[in-house]
Amino acid sequence: MQHLRIKSLQEYQETYQKSIEQPEQFWDEVANNFVWRKPWDKTLEWDFAKPEVKWFKGGKLNITENCLDRHLEERADKTAIIFEPNNPNEAAQHITYKELHSRVCQFSNVLKANNVSKGDRVCIYMPMVPELAIATLACARIGAVHSVVFAGFSAKALASRINDSACKVLLTADGGFRGDKITPLKSIADEALQECPSIEKTIILNRTNLEVTLTENQVWWHEELEKVNDVFEAVEMDAEDMLFILYTSGSTGKPKGMVHTCGGYMVYTAYSFLNVFQYQENDVYWCTADIGWITGHSYIVYGPLLNGATTVLFEGVPSYPDFGRFWQVCEKHKVNQFYTAPTAIRALAKHPTSLVEKYDLSNLKTLGTVGEPINEEAWHWYDEHVGKMNCPIVDTWWQTETGGIMMSSLAGVTKDKPTFATLPLPGIQPILMGTEGIEIMEQVAKGRLAIKFPWPSIARTIYGDHERYKQVYFSTFKNMYFPGDGALRDEDGDYRITGRVDDVIIVSGHNLGTAPIENAINEHEQVVESAIVGFPHDIKGNALYAYVILYNDVLPSEFLKIEINQLISDKIGPIAKCDKIQFVSGLPKTRSGKIMRRILRKIAINELDNLGDVSTLLNPEVVEEIIKCRI
Ligand code: WT7
Repeated sequence: MQHLRIKSLQEYQETYQKSIEQPEQFWDEVANNFVWRKPWDKTLEWDFAKPEVKWFKGGKLNITENCLDRHLEERADKTAIIFEPNNPNEAAQHITYKELHSRVCQFSNVLKANNVSKGDRVCIYMPMVPELAIATLACARIGAVHSVVFAGFSAKALASRINDSACKVLLTADGGFRGDKITPLKSIADEALQECPSIEKTIILNRTNLEVTLTENQVWWHEELEKVNDVFEAVEMDAEDMLFILYTSGSTGKPKGMVHTCGGYMVYTAYSFLNVFQYQENDVYWCTADIGWITGHSYIVYGPLLNGATTVLFEGVPSYPDFGRFWQVCEKHKVNQFYTAPTAIRALAKHPTSLVEKYDLSNLKTLGTVGEPINEEAWHWYDEHVGKMNCPIVDTWWQTETGGIMMSSLAGVTKDKPTFATLPLPGIQPILMGTEGIEIMEQVAKGRLAIKFPWPSIARTIYGDHERYKQVYFSTFKNMYFPGDGALRDEDGDYRITGRVDDVIIVSGHNLGTAPIENAINEHEQVVESAIVGFPHDIKGNALYAYVILYNDVLPSEFLKIEINQLISDKIGPIAKCDKIQFVSGLPKTRSGKIMRRILRKIAINELDNLGDVSTLLNPEVVEEIIKCRI
């Protein structure tokens, strides 16, 4: 794969040009570097109006043969995964490609023995341990569709995701270590399972030795492993067969199960990993995300393994045992590429730089960020203290829906620029759209971002709801994909993502829809209605501000605020808790009854002089009141 690595600015420009002039030929050539059981008949078939996208039609493959089997000849003893446990005193594990292959095959047999077959959905609710990656790959090997649910989600959130795609089997653990705490995963899962009729079997990994009791249809992971061998021939998949479902928040209450397919996802994640991070054969690469998010899917598991890379899998948190942990791990494993979130950088930058300087970071070559716009200050801190002004920073813009990185500099090859994602990757055709829905042709401009041509890893649908997929992503602009972000373009043609233009708020890098949080609050028996907006926060990027209407006879209290946040924790997870809760007698609404979040947003940030014309509101008088009592 190394020959696909772009090595100079000029090569990038030529490659990019080719990728948009002859996209099919371009992706054919990239795709030819993988192992296919049968070549494809047609490279691309698409129609954004339907919308329908098919890549490598008729091609047959199994992605795990590309992640594992193909490396056995030359990289059998190379480390595939370095596992760094939560507890720094627990030994790290180095899992070779040979061992990973064997463990994935063995777990594929466990799945098979538990009645999982091609097309079945398997929910994975696990801590960041090697078995999580192994389980994911085993699903892919057997042709089952994995749906990984982040282990910080609540029982309710887990249940709704299991039910949405009718998962047959649940993989979980007794508990998960996180800093000095243990998350009781098995008991959360048990609570979820009360309302999940589709689950026939639960397989439980013993990670923390928590006391748990297994009920009917629950089995221990290690006992299942003992019953099977490690020979498992990968199941042949169509390029367009489902590889996985991953849920992301939307602007209505229900999370969207984004569907990714085998062929295109494989080609794009591998290609983008190699080029953005400029990974070289013996490098050690570390992405600090959780496999429960798309970043972990694409750039801890699939992208690196497809390239035969060494990828670090970290169980812990940046603050344990102290705020130097990231740098201690970088030193310990001689990390060359380090990829994290702006929210983590901001949190670490609050602590003395001696916590960074203590460690030898001389192996670092590339730094990366993902998940939200990075502010100038955090960028420079990262550059100076971690990169020692000597490492390019790739600011990677993409989404769960895009499967892989869409815009980013290529480390050391194209120029980086503080707070700019910079340029599109080969094959990606971004444009800016004006308010009228017309493409802005001026070079220097600000607008809404749209993508006008398909790329191999675009999500194909929302599981079970193609109409919603069409409505959310393809109805804003005709024949274009609309990601929901705004951007500006400068005189160099570089893009800077300015943030969401819809009702999604990014808190600590987590994508949260306002609707599900409002729905959770509204379930409180003393609440009539609520509205959520974001406001800037030092570390989290954004925090949540809730405006809540109580029933007439209810007295506002601090206790109620705690109850409301507890409810949010239960329904969604602690990441969605509100920093500020204001009780109000009404919410500003348009005459058609739509909550004017724009006004609430301005009040939350105390920008009171340009609220705009409030006289057209249904209830202009509430605005005064809300301002008077703002927190
Ligand atoms: C949203 C997608 C992609 C993996 C993690 C998040 C925002 C993402 C950047 C960036 C500015 C960014 C966008 C996007 N976002 N990366 N480099 N600069 N904003 O995946 O949960 O699907 O969230 O995150 O608003 O739409 P996600």
